[in-house]
Amino acid sequence: MRPTLTFLLLLSLFLLPCLMSAKSSSYTYNVATLGARPNGKTDSTNAFIKAWILACGSSGRPTIHVPWGRFMVRKAVTFSGSRCKNKGVNFDIKGTLLAPSDFHVLGNSETWFMFEDVVGVTISGGVLDGQGSSLWACKRAGKGGCPDGVTNLGFTNSMNIVIRGLTSLNSQLYHIVVNGCKNVKIQGVTVSASGTSPNTDGIHVQLSTGVTIVNTNIHTGDDCISIGAGTTNMWMENINCGPGHGISIGSLGKDGNEPGVQNITVTTAKFTGTENGVRIKSWGRPSNGFVRNVLFQRITMVNAQNPIIIDQNYCPAGRCPRQVSGVSISGVRYEDIHGSSATPVAIKFDCSSKHHCTDIKLENVMLTYNKRPASSTCSNVGGSTYGLVRPSCL
Ligand SMILES: *[C@@H]1O[C@H](CO)[C@@H](O)[C@H](O)[C@H]1NC(C)=O
Repeated sequence: MRPTLTFLLLLSLFLLPCLMSAKSSSYTYNVATLGARPNGKTDSTNAFIKAWILACGSSGRPTIHVPWGRFMVRKAVTFSGSRCKNKGVNFDIKGTLLAPSDFHVLGNSETWFMFEDVVGVTISGGVLDGQGSSLWACKRAGKGGCPDGVTNLGFTNSMNIVIRGLTSLNSQLYHIVVNGCKNVKIQGVTVSASGTSPNTDGIHVQLSTGVTIVNTNIHTGDDCISIGAGTTNMWMENINCGPGHGISIGSLGKDGNEPGVQNITVTTAKFTGTENGVRIKSWGRPSNGFVRNVLFQRITMVNAQNPIIIDQNYCPAGRCPRQVSGVSISGVRYEDIHGSSATPVAIKFDCSSKHHCTDIKLENVMLTYNKRPASSTCSNVGGSTYGLVRPSCL
């Protein structure tokens, strides 16, 4: 009797935590059992809202499962984490979420799938198809009357986010926006839209810290990755970009008061047929913004129009008459950058006459135009070169 009892006691002591953890991680909410239909037509918005409410209310790490198939989601959805009881929600997506192709339906609702105040959300797999082509056509026609459209996926005021293996297709506006977040990992993501689609930035990050983007392919009509004011400690590795406008820090300094951008790394990247390679861009207006401690490393350019560019005189529609940029740029290193420029000027440093760019370093940079040495232009810039650098005006 006694040994059996002890054995049972020991067994239950051992099993109890296992059972508990199995229980707390086992809640799965399948949108198909909550009313979503994989026929590409029936509006499945409510199933997603229900799944979120259920997941939010359960403990541990619940999963929202989206099975194979095409799910039409006709309304903008906000997943708010402010009242969630758990350690985070996993989205396990096999299928495709379709936005309505009629752009008037989502209109100006900003973001199709918005996560707000969430902690620990992981999105694995899935396709978000924004069906943006009719809105792009409306905008390109230039006759007005087009809504702004919506960003496919947004995170705001959130923490400990993972986006893994997601595909974002044909967004009406930006594909993915990270705003006011901490610790965001974007891995193995694909962004794809036409090279002539307006304002379809791949991934835009602002006011955020600890964002990493790795193993990601972006083909789109605007910046592949854009980095706005207040972004710090950001890491990008193994990025393919093109078509698109490259990786851009900025536009910065549109406003007088603006947090700076600091500690940004791009390592191992390829730009194919892009408008820019690596760019830093600021408005030619007064501002207290800054860019410090940036590394662009191991980069291949294949016919990029402006492979390396700092442009501090951005001023569309003449909105900064006789003004100069207040953004100060310092500590930018360009290392191991090779390949071809689609224009004669492969390196352009056009810095503020008030705040010169300082401590700009070029190391082992070789760029050609039509198989011959390219040229470079420098204004208001100070720095140095190391190893073999061609062209260089530093
Ligand atoms: C710079 O950012 C990286 C992540 O990209 C981080 O690991 C590192 O600690 C940061 N450095 C400083 C000085 O904050």
